[in-house]
Amino acid sequence: MQGVFITIEGVEGSGKSTQMLRLSERLRRLHLPLVVSKEPGGTALGRELRRLLLERHASGETWCAESELLLFYADRAQHLETLIRPALAQEKIVLIDRFEDSTRAYQGASGVAEASLDRLSELVLRGLRPHLTVLLDMDPELSLQRVEVRNLALGHEFSETRFDEAELDFHRRVRNRFLAIAQGQPNRVALIPARDPVEQVEAAIWLRVAPLLRNAGFRID
Ligand code: TMP
Repeated sequence: MQGVFITIEGVEGSGKSTQMLRLSERLRRLHLPLVVSKEPGGTALGRELRRLLLERHASGETWCAESELLLFYADRAQHLETLIRPALAQEKIVLIDRFEDSTRAYQGASGVAEASLDRLSELVLRGLRPHLTVLLDMDPELSLQRVEVRNLALGHEFSETRFDEAELDFHRRVRNRFLAIAQGQPNRVALIPARDPVEQVEAAIWLRVAPLLRNAGFRID
């Protein structure tokens, strides 16, 4: 038996949270040793950083891309050290909502150079890579509409729920970066069309997860 590291990635509104929940519930029903977490925000420090990162516009100050980048890596370093590496060493299944590929896609789309990402990645990850990354792929035009509808349902102001053309363009670049990662590392990244019905997406994910767990020695039948 060995630890298995799985990450789920995708643009906002691609159904990540739903599929995280479905996969983690399935693994729990099978009584498998599971750790579920997310980035940013998987540790106490991470929750502070997440609050800072997600409320960054509240202060009105524009952050430079490098400041933001370092906060995401601070979150990741703490997460790896205190949660991910120990859980893998205890031969658990570690399921994380967003990881390194999000930084590559989002901060890359914000203009951070590939070489800077490589250097920080080497410092923080020290060669650790997920065994499997599920990439839920969807056109941001559609996924952001879903976020808008969700935000309206949550009672947010109309003006806060609309994505303008510049944001849409940013998310298109994020998606393209995710797709390029998947193309470059087809063995690690499972590209799953996320427009399909929820059950179909769940089944497609399980088709990739099940053999991985079997190979690692987990009983899933
Ligand atoms: P979430 O709401 O899906 O948890 O995502 C949090 C936001 O943080 C989302 O807009 C993506 C962004 N993000 C980055 O820009 N870089 C990163 O490295 C990570 C993990 C998230």
